[in-house]
Amino acid sequence: MEQYAIKGGNPLVGEVEIGGAKNAALAILAAAVMTDETVLIENVPDVRDTNVLLQAMESVGVIVTKIDRHTIKVNAAQVHDLIIEDDYIKKIRASYYLIGALLGKYRKAEVALPGGCNIGLRPIDQHIKGFRALGANVRIEHGLIITETDKLIGSHVYMDVVSVGATINVMMAAVMAEGQTTVENAAKEPHVVDLANFLNSMGANIKGAGTDVIKIKGVPRLHGTEYTIIPDQIEAGTFMFAAAVTKGDVTVKNVIPKHLESISAKLLEIGCELEESDDAVRVVASKPLGHTHVKTLPYPGFPTDMQPQITVALGLSGGTSIVTESIFENRFKYVDELTRMGANIKVESNTAIIDGVEKYTGASISAPDLRAGAALVIAALAAEGTTTIDDIQYIERGYEDFDLKLQSLGAQIEKISTERELQKFKLRVV
Ligand code: UD1
Repeated sequence: MEQYAIKGGNPLVGEVEIGGAKNAALAILAAAVMTDETVLIENVPDVRDTNVLLQAMESVGVIVTKIDRHTIKVNAAQVHDLIIEDDYIKKIRASYYLIGALLGKYRKAEVALPGGCNIGLRPIDQHIKGFRALGANVRIEHGLIITETDKLIGSHVYMDVVSVGATINVMMAAVMAEGQTTVENAAKEPHVVDLANFLNSMGANIKGAGTDVIKIKGVPRLHGTEYTIIPDQIEAGTFMFAAAVTKGDVTVKNVIPKHLESISAKLLEIGCELEESDDAVRVVASKPLGHTHVKTLPYPGFPTDMQPQITVALGLSGGTSIVTESIFENRFKYVDELTRMGANIKVESNTAIIDGVEKYTGASISAPDLRAGAALVIAALAAEGTTTIDDIQYIERGYEDFDLKLQSLGAQIEKISTERELQKFKLRVV
């Protein structure tokens, strides 16, 4: 199994290009099946999650052509099947966007029910409530969500919780329904807006995305389009925190600074200097980091997907910090691994109380999930000595060339798969 071997201690310095947003890509690729015409999508990140979704789409007859590493052509004129198998859902939860997309276009979809996952329970009751409000029958049989109807009719959907996934799925199901759908208490994340812009470029009539009330007027059909996905807010935020934790000086390029506001605000609070331009943010960490409190919230609040990265930074900050996780109940599992690197963090239910320590020290650890895995890499980059990180396939779900991008900033990180390679790495970096 592949691991990362990391020798900490080098400040990260330089510029890094941020790729297309994984979470926007997952929604947009799924929505591309909603027309029979060809759709060209640019800035698609080449990560495991998007590749698995593309395979799931191919399994039902969608023709996917890779023009280059980040440009993909999708044609769904020959879809022959409306069943998405369990294998894809097991690998990537967001395959469930194909429910909204297939239901919206063909009035029928059968998709394996996503199970739990290692950041906590992830119910889909709000998705189902939305589909039912539009007139679809939804039943769960043999582990599949089966949804079908003769026609979808616009409706009023009030979300009991702010859910990115449910907002996206309902938006797709409503786009070709008869009449108007209003989604209240909708998620406002940048990728919800990106999906709405994409669907509108295909002829949809969606207004209000980015606010908590989205209005969708049904149109009879969607047409082909060419579209460029927005930059990845979380990849950018991860590199910004990597700069802070390693006392570095990193410019994240090809970003939308507005999407990074909650992240930038916290970096300023803990003592980093920031410089913003139209499409880049520079983070300089020349002073010791200070403590702060943070609570994860739906956008524009501090993202839950940045919670492990800020916790790693606060673990090395002077004083006591408190991090409250309000989106997923089980998102502090990585703290055990961080403790093995010397962190002093106590977790009580959804709160981490962090007493900053002088330094982390290298250890053998495992990535428990995507974002926590990336955060542990950052901790290792700041740690004294060598760290090995197992289960890096989680990290590769959402970060393209993470090791190579970090290397280009001066990090000593390598992908290894044998003990011999580890020994070689240790000799090289001493
Ligand atoms: C998306 C992101 C994920 C991010 C999360 C929160 C994608 C592919 N994934 O996940 O990276 O961490 O948003 O920003 O974009 N909930 C319900 N019922 C539902 C749906 C959700 O109770 O039907 C709850 C969840 O348990 C959670 C909260 O709502 O507590 C938010 O979840 P949601 O926004 O739906 O997350 P995802 O779309 O799964």
